[in-house]
This record gives sequence, structure tokens and C-alpha cells, in this order.
Amino acid sequence: MNPLKKHEFLEKHSIVLLIAIIVTVLIGGIIEIIPLFRQETVIESVEGMRPYTPLELAGYNIYVREGCYNCHSQQIRPLRDEVERYGHYSLAAESMYDHPFQWGSKRTGPDLARVGAKYSDEWHVAHLIRPRSVVPESIMPSYSFLRKNGAKLYDLDKHLKTLRLMGVPYTDEMIANAEKDALVQATGEAGGADIAGLQERYGERVNARDFDGQPEMVSEMDALVAYLQVLGTMVDFDTIKGIQLSKEEVAQ
Ligand code: HEC
Repeated sequence: MNPLKKHEFLEKHSIVLLIAIIVTVLIGGIIEIIPLFRQETVIESVEGMRPYTPLELAGYNIYVREGCYNCHSQQIRPLRDEVERYGHYSLAAESMYDHPFQWGSKRTGPDLARVGAKYSDEWHVAHLIRPRSVVPESIMPSYSFLRKNGAKLYDLDKHLKTLRLMGVPYTDEMIANAEKDALVQATGEAGGADIAGLQERYGERVNARDFDGQPEMVSEMDALVAYLQVLGTMVDFDTIKGIQLSKEEVAQ
């Protein structure tokens, strides 16, 4: 039969045509969508990314609870002004362990995706207690109560377990040591803690110290500052080829 005749059949039977259209669109849709369900195919794996330590995760939970994302984004867009102000644009891999991600959509305050290691712990503590003590024109609210509240560490193993269900690669050992690791990280070597286990599980570069200046307790302030200090610091852009912007590119 003449192929055009077959087409004529489709054109003259609207229901058949409709079904044919639906089938064609479905095939196209499936081909586009299915690969996205496999996270590892959409996110380029990047060296240096690790899951949050239990203490950082406790800080992340406080960040979400207090709604910091209402005023702060955590995504640096690949635009010149942003890259000059905040540093290398954010990679998808950098928020792959955030459930939910904290990209945010509002910047009443600055982007925080690379705030880690930008300020000292003392600065963060002073800023969170009374923002205007360090930035006179600040309109950020005070979070002084965080320093008085003890951080909830006993249920962190459950948080780790839940995140593992979501695909975050926490090991059995990390889950079993969650509470201890949090305590050790907020004490640090200077406070007499043995950080070898923590480093073995989360890497040599993990920040372990008393973050809030109160060695006698692990406060919510410790957890939040530990979280802020690691933001954007896991990936070392100097060692990654192919994705870093050269100085000339930034200047263009
Ligand atoms: C009402 C909006 C608002 C909320 C809510 C808010 N902030 Fe801010 N934040 C700001 C503003 C405005 C600034 C800029 C002025 C300053 O540094 O205080 C800022 C600055 C910051 C900075 C310094 C960033 C930099 O690069 O200089 C950090 C860190 C920060 N906020 C953390 C937090 C955290 C953590 C929370 C939640 C506990 C939070 N903010 C909640 C408005 C807010």
C-alpha cells in the first residue's frame, strides 16, 4: 500500500490520530524523563563531596527549622556579578546530599552557598547573637537562644538512617557512631576528644572544635556554626579540571 494512503487513514480517523499522537508523545516523554530518575546520571560526581557529619546535619536541621532559607539562598548562579561576589558558581553535586535542598528563592541577606571558612566561629556566634554588633546596618533577626539550647544529638542516628533511604551514603558505622561523632566534633582535639574515628569516617579536613565558645555544652549554636563553616568548602576547585573558571574568564 502507498504509505501516503496509510497516513490518509490516520488523518480521516480523528480518534486513531489522537491515540497515535498520545503514543508518540509518551515515547518522547519517557525517553526524556526516565534517565532523570537515576540521580547518578544527572549529577556529575565531584571529588571532595561527602555527606554532612552528624553535628553539621543537626545544624542543617536548625537552619531549616528557623527558616533561614526565607532570607538566604544557597545557589550561586553562573553570572559574572555572582561569581565575583560569592565565588565559583554552585554545582549540582554540592547540594546532592541536602534533603530538601536549600537553594532558596529569596535573598534578603546574601547567598550562603560558600560562607564556610569566610568568617571565624567567633564572628558567626557574635553575628547570630546580635547581627548588628558586627554589621551595624543588618536587618537580620537575633538567634541568641541557640547558644542556650542544648543540641538534640540522641536521635541523629535516625536522621542518618532516613537520609540513607534517600540515597545519602551513610555507612552502618556512621549511623552507629552518630551521637558520639557529634559530641567529638563539637569538642575537638583541643577539648581533649579523640577525633581519629570522626576523621576516618568523614575525612581529614573535617572541622572539629568548640564552635560556640562554651566548652561545657554542645549547643544548637555549635551545630549551626559547624554547618555554616562547611558550606561550599567540600569541593576544592583548584584541583578540579574542566569546571573551574579562569581569572580571565571571570574578568570577561
Ligand atoms: C529577615 C531575613 C533574615 C533571616 C530570617 C536570616 N538572615 Fe542571615 N542575613 C540577613 C541579612 C539582611 C544579612 C546581611 C547583613 C548581615 O550580615 O547581618 C544576613 C547575613 C547573614 C550571614 C553573613 C553572610 C555573609 O556572607 O556576610 C550569615 C552567615 C547569615 N546571615 C546566616 C543566617 C542564618 C544561619 C539564619 C537562620 C538561623 C539567618 N541568617 C536568618 C537576613 C536574614
